[in-house]
This record gives sequence, C-alpha cells and structure tokens, in this order.
Amino acid sequence: MNYKEQLSALLSEKTGLEQSQLASMLEVPPDMAMGDFALPCFKLAKTMRKAPSMIAQEISASLSELPDWLERVEIAGGYLNFFLSRAQFVQNILQEVKSKQDRYGSSDEGQGRNIVLDYSSINIAKPFHIGHLSTTVIGSSLYKIFNFLGYNSVGVNHLGDWGTQFGKLITAYKRWGDHDTVEAGSIRALLDLYVKFHDEAEKEPSLEDEGRAWFKKIEDGDEEAMALFTWFKDLTLREVAKIYEILDVHFDSYAGESFYNDKMQPVIDELDAKGLLKDSDGAKVVDLEEHNMPPCLILKSDGATLYATRDLACAFYRKKTYDFYKNLYVVAYQQNLHFKQWFKVVEMMGHEWAKDMEHVAFGMVSMADGTLSTRKGRVIFLEDVIKSVIEKSRSLIEEKNAGLENKDQTAQDIGVGALIYSTLSNSRIKDIVFDLDRILNFDGETGPYVQYTHARALSVLRKAADQPAAQPDYSALTCPQAFAVIKLISEFPDVIRRAADKYEPFFITRHVTALAQAFNKFYYDIRILDNDANATAARLELVQAAALVIRIGLGLLGIHAPERM
Ligand code: ARG
Repeated sequence: MNYKEQLSALLSEKTGLEQSQLASMLEVPPDMAMGDFALPCFKLAKTMRKAPSMIAQEISASLSELPDWLERVEIAGGYLNFFLSRAQFVQNILQEVKSKQDRYGSSDEGQGRNIVLDYSSINIAKPFHIGHLSTTVIGSSLYKIFNFLGYNSVGVNHLGDWGTQFGKLITAYKRWGDHDTVEAGSIRALLDLYVKFHDEAEKEPSLEDEGRAWFKKIEDGDEEAMALFTWFKDLTLREVAKIYEILDVHFDSYAGESFYNDKMQPVIDELDAKGLLKDSDGAKVVDLEEHNMPPCLILKSDGATLYATRDLACAFYRKKTYDFYKNLYVVAYQQNLHFKQWFKVVEMMGHEWAKDMEHVAFGMVSMADGTLSTRKGRVIFLEDVIKSVIEKSRSLIEEKNAGLENKDQTAQDIGVGALIYSTLSNSRIKDIVFDLDRILNFDGETGPYVQYTHARALSVLRKAADQPAAQPDYSALTCPQAFAVIKLISEFPDVIRRAADKYEPFFITRHVTALAQAFNKFYYDIRILDNDANATAARLELVQAAALVIRIGLGLLGIHAPERM
C-alpha cells in the first residue's frame, strides 16, 4: 500500500492535475506533528493563477469526504497537511512485515539480471591492510543488497597477481628466504623479503636484472618460477581467507590480473582494427586528448601489458561470461582516472555496454590511534585491527555482562559489527578515521548501539512469552513514539532501493540507526506490557517488527545481530 500514490491519485481526481506532478510535489514534513504529507501549494500558484493559501483552501474544501485511510487535512498557510489514519496505517504496515518476515523490503525487480561486483581485490604477497576494509565491506554489502532486490550478484576478487614485483620476490626468496620461515610468517614474511630486496638493490643494482629475469620465467611458465609464484599466491589466499571468514565476506570468483594473460590479444587487435591504437615512443596508447585525459597506455615499448590492458580484457570477459546488467568496481577514489580512461576506451570501441560499468569510489581510512600504525612500519594490518577490536569488545562484555553465554562469538559479532558499521556510516566518498574506543561506544551512533537495541527488543519479547494471546488493538500505536517507529519501518523498502540505486549502503546504516533511536524512545516512554491485553499485543507486534527490520538492515550491511548482549 503506497500512501503517496494513493494521495496523489485522490488529489488528481479532485483538482484535475497530473497525478505524477502531484506525487513529485508531495513532501514529508520534518516534524510528524505537521502531518504525514504536505502539499506546498505555492508550487501550483503559477499554473492555477491563484494565491497559495486560496489553492489550499479550495483543495481542502473539495475533500469534504475523506477516504478511511486519511484522518484529516489541515491548512497551514500555503501548505496543505495530510494526516493518515494512524491505526489503519499501523495495521497495514505490521501486516506487511508479518507476512514478508525475513523478506520484508525485498523485491524481485532485479530478476534475471546479473550484477558483477569487483571488490576487495587484494594484491598477492602484500598485506591486507586497513585500506582494503572499505572496498571489502562496501562491496559485500552491495552484493547482499542487490541479491535482496532480486538481482543475481556476482562477487569478484580481482586479485593483483601479476607484475614484475613477483620476479623480485622470487629473487629475494632465493637469496635470503627459507621455506619454513615463509610458511610460518606468510604475508608478513613475504613483505619482509620484499623490503629486503629493495634495501639490497640500492647497494647492488644488478638485483633488479635478476628480478626481471625471474619475472620473465614466470611469464614463460618456467616450472620453478611458477611453483614459487603459486605458493606465494596460495599463502596469501590462505591468510586472507581467515579475514574473509571473520568478516563473513564471500566471492564467486577469484579471477585476477594473471587470469587475463591469454585474453588481452583479441582486445588489442580490436583496438588496432578500429584505428584507436597510436604509437607513442614505441608504446601503444589510446589517445584521450579529446576527452581531456592523458592517453590510456595499452602496451609498453617492450610489449608488456598494463593494469588497464588487463582491466579492458577483463571487462570483455565479464560481458561475455555474465552478460552483466551492471559491472561495478568498488575501488578507492585514487583510481578515478584509471577507470575513467579505460571506460572511455570501451565506449570509443563502440560497445554500448560501456555505460553499464561504474566506478564505485570511496575515501581513505586511517587510524586515530597512532600506536597501531607504528608497531609494524607504516602499514596497518587489517588482521591486527580486527583482533584488537574483538579483544576490546570482549573486555566490554566482561565488564557489562560477565554471565553472558557465547561470549567469544558475541565479542566477534560486536567488534566486527563496530568496524563494518563505522565503515558504512557515511557517504562512501568521505575519508574515515578509525577510533576503536569511539566505534565501540554503546551510546553513540555505532554498530554496538544498534545491535544492543535489537537484543533489547528480543529480551522484551522473551519476557512477554507467557502473555496470553489477544487481538491487537492498533489504536495503542498511534502515539508519536510508536508511530515514529512504524513510519521508519514503512520507509525501509524504499531506503533499500535508494541504497542500491546510489551504491550507498550508508543509507541503510542511517535508517537502522534512526529506527533504533525511535525504538529506544518508545521503549523508555511507553509501558509495553500492561493490563490491557489488546494494547499489549499491538505493542509487542511493534517490538517484533522493529527487531526484525533492524536485523534485516544490519544483515544487508554484513553485520550480525546477536540475540543477547
Ligand atoms: N588490486 C588493486 C589495488 O589494490 C585493485 C583492483 C581493483 N579492480 C580492478 N578491476 N582494477 O589497488
């Protein structure tokens, strides 16, 4: 039941104006006391050639008999304010939530459409650092949101598993490494070797040649080189698998840069055939001057391919394999130019699906607490951050609720939830500064606050378990506190759609937070269980619906909602 549509239809019938025009004019007043919808009549003054207050009066007069879902209409200056019949509204929404349950807010609008999401996309033998948290968390949330709307999400971890650095790494390993140290130290050991290579190469420049030679061997498929390269890759993937498990993040494909080794030639040929390849000091480029961008480098003068060459080949592969409706890249804004350039190249090649690709950019992450960053060079390992936030939430549990069962899992849910929530608590393009104490605060706008509200609602329901069944009296939910909760619940499906539309999981974060706040106000102001069994039954339905919607919302963000905290 869409009230905005109903109201605009009614107004169209009375005024003879276009329904869509009216629908786009209807506003939601900032304060519920001013009504549920408002029509700013000054916007009609021009077409109707009358003063706004006159228009308001006339429309109001034409509405002498109201439909049962509309309780009253008030004139306030040039505005017409509409008040819904609250009890009926409440009943409709709660009915809807009850019938849809876990699927409340879902839809099938994406049926039959594939959305490819490129996220996390880590680099082999490099630390999974704090900067990868945003791409991982935003991508994973969008994955869930699109699936919830009926699309088929395809999650791809486009591994950075190609480049001369792997030749250097093999050189370093052959010189100074040993099997057991690398096995035990994993990415950190590989990073040490890599750092050592660069230190040593300053003194002994021939090391660079050795590195290049090893990379050539990887390219040629030399057995020893490939074995080492594959081992480094396995080590990295094994280590990040632990992080993905804790974050509850999944991928359908790990096809990364090396996967496109044998898939670039057809694209290069097509560029050439279409006359787009230009020679530039022996290198091959696509000139983008006309589009005010530097040229897109396709082949180096020695014939080597580049990051963009691989992304081009990859886009064609994804189009062929998934026939995507959208192909989205959740990558830091530092790579803006890269994506703009090669998206343009696909467009210049004449492929209309170029418009279906988007760079979903996001800002930088840093730590407010400098200690974490100094311990191990400048890189902040995500693993360390996760460990420390889980430890902190574990000690918070000991402090607040030492008797809790399942402490380890709950500490993980809270710690990880806090991290994800704060990553998704602003428009994605904004930079984030992590302050572990603040994001774990149970009172602010934080993950734990929302999780706690959910657990609180469930605890009310547990307490009410022995209440006799009664017919709910929805007029008990017309007070501002209850009605505010219901309205937020009613807007939830729309919020999900907008989050998908703008690739902004943060819309959902903001909404579940508002819902948690409204619920807490209701919880503090209103006695939920009282002698009036019918009113109590209605209030319990509200509690149940609020808990459910918070849980669905958190779930779409990738945050668990523990039953007890
Ligand atoms: N591995 C790259 C990085 O860490 C991100 C790759 C993003 N995906 C892509 N298809 N270019 O910077």
